[in-house]
Amino acid sequence: MMSSEHLTCSWLQQLLVVLLKLCLTFAGPLRPLNGTDCTAKGPASYILVFTGHWSPQAFPKQYPLFRPPAQWSKLIAVSHNRHFRLWEDGAPASAGVQSFAEVGVTVELMKAAKEARKRRAVGAMHRTAGIPNGIGHSSTELLMQPRGSLLSLMVKIIPSPDWFVGVDSINLCEGSQWKQEVNIDLHPYDAGTDSGFTFSSPNYPTIPQENITKITSEMPNHPANSFYYPRLKELPPIASIRISQQSRSSDRQVLMSNHILPNSINPRHFSVTPLDCEVSFWSSWGLCLGPCSRGGVRHRTRYILLRPANAGVPCPELEEQSECVAHSCMRLQ
Ligand SMILES: *[C@@H]1O[C@H](CO)[C@@H](O)[C@H](O)[C@H]1NC(C)=O
Ligand SMILES: *[C@@H]1O[C@H](CO)[C@@H](O)[C@H](O)[C@H]1NC(C)=O
Repeated sequence: MMSSEHLTCSWLQQLLVVLLKLCLTFAGPLRPLNGTDCTAKGPASYILVFTGHWSPQAFPKQYPLFRPPAQWSKLIAVSHNRHFRLWEDGAPASAGVQSFAEVGVTVELMKAAKEARKRRAVGAMHRTAGIPNGIGHSSTELLMQPRGSLLSLMVKIIPSPDWFVGVDSINLCEGSQWKQEVNIDLHPYDAGTDSGFTFSSPNYPTIPQENITKITSEMPNHPANSFYYPRLKELPPIASIRISQQSRSSDRQVLMSNHILPNSINPRHFSVTPLDCEVSFWSSWGLCLGPCSRGGVRHRTRYILLRPANAGVPCPELEEQSECVAHSCMRLQ
């Protein structure tokens, strides 16, 4: 009797220990179920500042001056865990990414993020106003939770066929600590859904759709491309972001309500990109002027495709003449 009671008791104890272990493994904040592995105790508040560095000095080729001039769309930022992706280099653009990258419409993108929020994959969505110039700032406050410590964002390059800048799933948390400050230079991406080569190309859908790719000074490898600068090893950053943690104190309200930016934010990039002159092929030779076979000359011409800028190679001669050959003479009598 005595031993049987003792047995039951120890069996129950063991069961309890196992159950407790299971609880710790699955529910404890120490090990989120493949969330973001952030073990910070509480949320963190950040200021995100987006800065455009898209100047005609850094990007002289086809720099958009009119209808519309160079500018940035509103910025969409999403905090999330590993079960959500706003966009991904090398993967196909979602419908939301496509409509945002092509025409700056955020409805589909927001719908997808809201759906993911129901699944707890997305924490919060933020946006800032657009910037009416290539150079300028916009900012927003971010509230990051440990269970969704990743941040993704996108800003459309305007005008452009389907080009944007952004970041994909940067983790603002490191173990049990929130990062103090993160600075990232941004480069253009092509959403792969529109085949335009230049900022102001008309809409020309890519069929079948291609994957999202980074635009570099050599890719796409075509002289007509607005970002094609064969002399550059890499493009200067066209934009950058700074994400800095705020102490939860009084300066926060002031900062946000007026969008006053910290003084430390100065344009960091003064890139000057030389742009070489580009000329067309020669026209065919014209007819001979002057008496045939005695010093008559003929001409051919070419024209400027791209004016040089920032001390790039100047344009060559646009006209050339040569002596006539007898059979191309026009008989005037
Ligand atoms: C869980 O996340 C880690 C990265 O933190 C990743 O390497 C791993 O593949 C993920 N596992 C699953 C099942 O998603
Ligand atoms: C495009 O992305 C898909 C999914 O990530 C991948 O299976 C496919 O191989 C990619 N295509 C190219 C051309 O890289």
